[in-house]
Amino acid sequence: MSPSSETPPSPPPAWSSIARALADVERSPSVRLRGWVHRTRSSGGILFWVLRDGSGSVQVTARKDSLGPEEFEEAEHAQVESSVEVEGTLAPDRRAPGGFELKARSARVVGASKDFPIFTEQTEEFLLDHRHLAVRTREMVATLKVKSELLRGARELLDSEGYWEMTPPILSGNAAEGGSQAFTLDYFGETAYLAQTAQLYLEALLFPRERVYSVTTSFRAEKSRTPRHLCEYTHLEAEIAWAGMEENIGLQERLLTHMLHRAARERPEELRLLGRDPAELLALEPPFERMRYEKAIDELRARGFALEFGVDLGTAEERALTQERTAPIFVTHFPRGIKAFYMAEDPGDPRVVLGADLLAPEGYGEIIGGSCREWELERLERRMAELGIPQEPYRWYLDLRRYGSVPHAGFGLGVERVVRWVTRREHIRDATPFPRTPSRLLP
Ligand code: 4AD
Ligand code: MG
Repeated sequence: MSPSSETPPSPPPAWSSIARALADVERSPSVRLRGWVHRTRSSGGILFWVLRDGSGSVQVTARKDSLGPEEFEEAEHAQVESSVEVEGTLAPDRRAPGGFELKARSARVVGASKDFPIFTEQTEEFLLDHRHLAVRTREMVATLKVKSELLRGARELLDSEGYWEMTPPILSGNAAEGGSQAFTLDYFGETAYLAQTAQLYLEALLFPRERVYSVTTSFRAEKSRTPRHLCEYTHLEAEIAWAGMEENIGLQERLLTHMLHRAARERPEELRLLGRDPAELLALEPPFERMRYEKAIDELRARGFALEFGVDLGTAEERALTQERTAPIFVTHFPRGIKAFYMAEDPGDPRVVLGADLLAPEGYGEIIGGSCREWELERLERRMAELGIPQEPYRWYLDLRRYGSVPHAGFGLGVERVVRWVTRREHIRDATPFPRTPSRLLP
């Protein structure tokens, strides 16, 4: 045969993701995929894989006579979680999940995996010790996808309302939420604190930009072992110039609703896998119920809690308040004594502050803390003196009240708290890939 009569060899198809390959199957059934072996089984010269990549999974069948004996043997010995490259043709198959299977022409092992240690029925401790591998489990993957969608929804809403994303520092010479829960470290011979909040810096940044937000890591040296405290968490914070209680609460309502709706629309399968009906999230609409702290105390007393005006609401109290609710609720006007120094006093009732916590329903409790800020210099100085807070490290913060101060308000949303509620995780550590708790710094 002369070279000219030969059909030129067609180039191999470009790499595709599994989701894309399945979506384009009519047009181009011949594909090259790469990913990880999720399940493997072989019998009588036929090998079956479930192949997983970042986009989805698909069934692969490989026959010894199409792969050749050597390649087949290597593929047959590939254990779960081996990374592989497969080339072949997608064909309809009623029994395959997704309705198609890939008939492989070649299947090559890239990175072997010997005795992957994660399987079902393992203890919580074991899985936490092997979290770097356990992040590949279906539940973790679904949770992380939902979390990412919630964050995307948050940025989408804030950007659409003209907020500017800022990058405040994590290392600071002052602790903002009370020194006792701040991690300290040596900073060239000085004491530095890991940020508990970006708030004070966002307050400085609202002067040039008026509406600002940030998504940063906050740190809390929380010794209390509760299912809702992490030592390191993702903090979504916003600060609004000229705003009072209503504007502050209104933004929180729109923000949270948008986040929930986006997750419900974009990740319904993942939510269902985790035990959350997306319709429950789509049903939530502002306004959320509001209740003054004093009224909440009454309600809790009626349920047998021994509480007096002035005590903070803990995990048990918030659980009792929200257990039977299906929508979030704002608890407002907390006593001054249990809230941070920067919260503005209520001119109508000096016992309380103009602040609100948003509590998630079904017993989950606080997901947002927010308030109007004390924006007048004298009042802020007086408050700091009452609480014995030294002025020196906060000189810069007090300056904000010296140069064109304006009334303003803001809030902080605990992203893992929202994820825990939305994905119905029992413990907040399962809302983050590598949880930091008092007993865990590795992996
Ligand atoms: O209520 P917090 O302490 O408020 C502040 O830090 C304000 N400076 C925020 C602001 O106004 N910019 O924390 C805010 C939120 C809480 O409502 C909760 O959702 C979350 O952060 N949070 C935690 N999440 C996980 N683990 C912890 N240890 C948390 N502590 C607070
Ligand atoms: Mg709080």
